[in-house]
Amino acid sequence: MTATPGLWPLVGEGEAETAVWCYDNRVPGPEIRVRQGEPVRIVVENKLDEATTVHWHGIRLPNAMDGVPGLTQPPIKPGEKFVYAFTPPDAGTFWYHPHADSLRQLGRGLAGALIVEEPETIPVDRDILWMIADWRLKPDAQIAGGFGNAMEAAMSGRVGNTVTLNGAVSNGVAVHAGERIRLRLVNSALARIMALRFEGHRPAVIAIDGQPCETHEPVGGRILLGPAMRVDILIDMRGEPGRRYRVVDDFYDGLAYWLTELAYDSNPPLRKHSSDAPLSLPRNPLPEPNLDTAEHHVLKLQGGMMGGNGMMGMGMMGVGMSHGAIWAINGMSMTGDGQADMPPLLTLQRGRSYRLTIRNDTAWWHPMHLHGHSFRVLRRNGKAVPHHQWADTVLVSPHEAVDIAFVADNPGDWMFHCHITDHQASGLMVVLRVT
Ligand code: C2O
Ligand code: CU
Repeated sequence: MTATPGLWPLVGEGEAETAVWCYDNRVPGPEIRVRQGEPVRIVVENKLDEATTVHWHGIRLPNAMDGVPGLTQPPIKPGEKFVYAFTPPDAGTFWYHPHADSLRQLGRGLAGALIVEEPETIPVDRDILWMIADWRLKPDAQIAGGFGNAMEAAMSGRVGNTVTLNGAVSNGVAVHAGERIRLRLVNSALARIMALRFEGHRPAVIAIDGQPCETHEPVGGRILLGPAMRVDILIDMRGEPGRRYRVVDDFYDGLAYWLTELAYDSNPPLRKHSSDAPLSLPRNPLPEPNLDTAEHHVLKLQGGMMGGNGMMGMGMMGVGMSHGAIWAINGMSMTGDGQADMPPLLTLQRGRSYRLTIRNDTAWWHPMHLHGHSFRVLRRNGKAVPHHQWADTVLVSPHEAVDIAFVADNPGDWMFHCHITDHQASGLMVVLRVT
């Protein structure tokens, strides 16, 4: 795979192409499909004019393959190559993106999906991917500069003005009445949080961040997707032939828009009765944390702008806050993309169970991502989370406390950070060490 500058018709035919940075000359990068438990080897060549790395988001792989510059590997310099080799233990929907100059590299288009297939495919008519990305474009369809604006970094991050589906603004996705689709949703945006509603349809969630959960309908029919999160849904096409149904994202108050439409062809339904057979995915080989013996820690998310009154939060002024940081976790901030000499916030014993309370003391949403592990999402504000959910990125709302638990079974220095890239770059990032 080659990281390279390129041109891509993001806004559509007949409009100017957008100068992007991308993998293999396409946006999103190639949809990599591999088999669970089979070795993968990917050679990444850097044809950008700055250093890069690739992080295989959500894959429980050896630390040296994790793609964090300084921490797990030297950055791949222009003209150089790096070989990533690992065997994905879990089937599911994962993705890849740079972990170097992340704001610009991800914001200019470097991202793709990594799909690990189950040994036996589930009985659906189609298995499709929607990589949803968000761009800030100027009227000439070129990407606006100004990455890393401190004011944005202290608030919601760089939310753009153009949302694409699989690399282009979408007016419709062709579907047939009666078919059952496994739809893999990936939010690859820098900062935009999404809440998707499928008008006239009742999607069922079958996996979160690649990990199977109990099949369930999302609350209010809305699928919440923070940056870096994935949700696999099962959706029965019960609409009428020839009709169109909107897919709406109404996460931000007053800023609802439609992402695309399900555009039914006029053929009669594929089958008389859509199969109502409940469907669930086989479990992945995740170690179940022992909640009786788990060691407990509280991770306080701090900093940022307070509720819109123009004051910087005072929680951020603690010791350990480094130069230019706007955010911190328990008073510690790692900024940028990763660095060599970051002392770990916590040192975890290999094989032990841990329960972490992620306490959001800020006025902003944070999708918090842990490298190298998947974790159980146990409770939100003390209330049990249903459907046996695992995740690698958990969306934490303002002032919410989320309890997660996992077995620290993967040795190494692992990033724990917010996936709103501006927040990560300005301090909402630490290292957890597993020894
Ligand atoms: Cu997808 Cu360190 O992140
Ligand atoms: Cu954040």
